[in-house]
Amino acid sequence: MVNGMTKGKYPAPLKCVEAVQNAVKMKFEQGMTAEREIFTNLMWTPECRALRHMFVAQRAASKIDDVPSDTPQREINSVAVIGAGTMGGGITMNFLNAGIPVKMLEMKQEALDKGVGVLRGNYEAQVKKGKLKEDKFKERMALLSTTLDYEELKDADLVIEAVFEEIGVKEQVFKKLDEVMKPGAILASNTSTLDVNAIAHFTQRPQDVVGLHFFSPANVMKLLEVVRGADTAKDVMATVMSVAKKIKKTAVVSGVCDGFIGNRMIEQYSRQAGFLIEEGCTPQQVDKAIEKFGFAMGPFRMGDLAGNDIGWAIRKRRYLEKPGMKYSKTADLLCEMGRFGQKAGKGWYDYLPGKRDAIACKEVEDMVTEHREALGITARKISDDEIVQRLVFSLVNEAAHLLEEGIAARASDIDIVYVTGYGFPVYRGGPMMYADQFGLFNMVQAMNRFARNPHDDATFWEPAPLLARLVAEGKNFN
Ligand SMILES: NC(=O)c1ccc[n+]([C@@H]2O[C@H](COP(=O)([O-])OP(=O)(O)OC[C@H]3O[C@@H](n4cnc5c(N)ncnc54)[C@H](O)[C@@H]3O)[C@@H](O)[C@H]2O)c1
Repeated sequence: MVNGMTKGKYPAPLKCVEAVQNAVKMKFEQGMTAEREIFTNLMWTPECRALRHMFVAQRAASKIDDVPSDTPQREINSVAVIGAGTMGGGITMNFLNAGIPVKMLEMKQEALDKGVGVLRGNYEAQVKKGKLKEDKFKERMALLSTTLDYEELKDADLVIEAVFEEIGVKEQVFKKLDEVMKPGAILASNTSTLDVNAIAHFTQRPQDVVGLHFFSPANVMKLLEVVRGADTAKDVMATVMSVAKKIKKTAVVSGVCDGFIGNRMIEQYSRQAGFLIEEGCTPQQVDKAIEKFGFAMGPFRMGDLAGNDIGWAIRKRRYLEKPGMKYSKTADLLCEMGRFGQKAGKGWYDYLPGKRDAIACKEVEDMVTEHREALGITARKISDDEIVQRLVFSLVNEAAHLLEEGIAARASDIDIVYVTGYGFPVYRGGPMMYADQFGLFNMVQAMNRFARNPHDDATFWEPAPLLARLVAEGKNFN
C-alpha cells in the first residue's frame, strides 16, 4: 500500500515500514543497527539529495541578495483587488484565508456578483467536504467587500491588478491607481506576459510598482513569482516577500522579461513537444513519457487544462516579433478546429461533460498525420528517453540563459519555480538539480545530437554561454 501511495518513487516510506517490522522481529540492539544502516543508505539516494536540495532551495529563495533581512517593511493590513475574474477571485481568497480584508473592484456590478459567487462557491465546496468550518467560512466572507468606485480603494495598503491581459487596459488601471491610492501603497500587477517596467511607468511612482504573478488556481497553487521592476524599491520587495509568507506562498524573485522565469522556460518545452509530434509521437506518448518521469501532467494535458488559446495568442505575437523562430503548426491547427481544451470539451484530447479524463482523439491524430505528410516527414519511433531529454533539457538550456541575464538569481530558484508551479517531480529536485545529476557534459552531448535533427531547432540547442562555461570548468549549476 505504501508503495502505491508513493507510486514507487520514494524509497524512504517503504524503509520506514521495514524498520517497524524489525522492531517486532529483532532484538532491540539488532533493530537499532538495522535502522542505522537503512538510514545511512537512504541518505545517499538521489531522492534524498533532491529533497534536501529542495529544503535548502526554499530557504534561499526567500532571500534577496541586496535586500538585507532588516530592511524596513511597509504595513499591509488591507488589500484591494482589481478584476473579479479567474485570477482576481483566487488571489482574493488567499488574503481572506490569512485574515486580511479585501475590497474587490470591477467595471460592472454583474461582474462583481459573478466573481463573488464563484468565490463563495469555492468556500461552500470546502465546507461541504469538511475542509472548512462554517464559522471560518462566515469570518472569511465578512472580510470581503466590493466596489465599482476607485475612490473607495484609496486607503488599501496593497492593490493587486488582475484585469485583462492588454497593455491598454493595464495603462488605464495604473493611471487611475496612481491618481487615487494613498502615498506608499504598493501597486502590484498579476500580468503573465506584459512588461512590468512599462506598467510601472504608467504611474508617477514606479518605485511602488511590482509584479505579483500568481498561478492558476491562485487559491491553490503555491508558487508566486515576484517580479522586480528596474525601479521597484527595496522595502517594497521586502514587504511583498513577507506578504507571500503570510498567505502561504512560495515566492521566487524574477527580473522583468517576457514570461518571467516559469513561462519563458515552458515556451521552449512546448516547442519541443510540438516538434516531437511532428516527427512521429502522439500527444499520449509524449504525455505518458514525461508523466512516467514524474511530471504531474504532460504538455498536451497541461495545454488542455490551461486553454490552448492562451498559447495560440502568444504564438501569434511571436510570429510578428520573431519571424525566424520555428514552431510546429499543429497547435495552431488544433485551435483553428476550436479545440481550446477542457473548457471547450475538446483539445488535444476529448473530454466527457463534467469529466477531466483525457480520451485519445482520432480527429487530432488525423490532423497531425495530415500535417506531417504535408511537411514531407516520415514518422519515426521516438523513445521515451529522447522525449524526456528533449523536454527537460529545453527547460534547462533556457534557464541557463535566464541565469546569465540575471533574471533568476540562483539555479535553485528555478528548481523551486518548476517544482511548486509546473509539476516537476520534487524527488528529482527540479530541472537544474536533475541536469546536475545527469551531468552537464552528458546533457550538452545530447543537445548536440538534437541540434543535428533537421526537424528540430538547431539554434535553440546551442548551449547557453553559462552552460558551456560550466561544462568547460567541470562545474554544476547548484
Ligand atoms: N488565467 C490564468 O491562468 C492566469 C495566470 C496568471 C496570471 N494571469 C493574468 O491575470 C490577469 C487576469 O486574468 P484572468 O484569467 O483572471 O482573466 P479574466 O478574464 O478571468 O478576468 C479579468 C477580469 O477583469 C475585469 N476587468 C477588465 N478590465 C477591467 C477594468 N478596467 N477595471 C476593472 N476590472 C476589469 C473583467 O471584467 C474580468 O472579470 C491577466 O493579466 C492574466 O494574464 C492569468
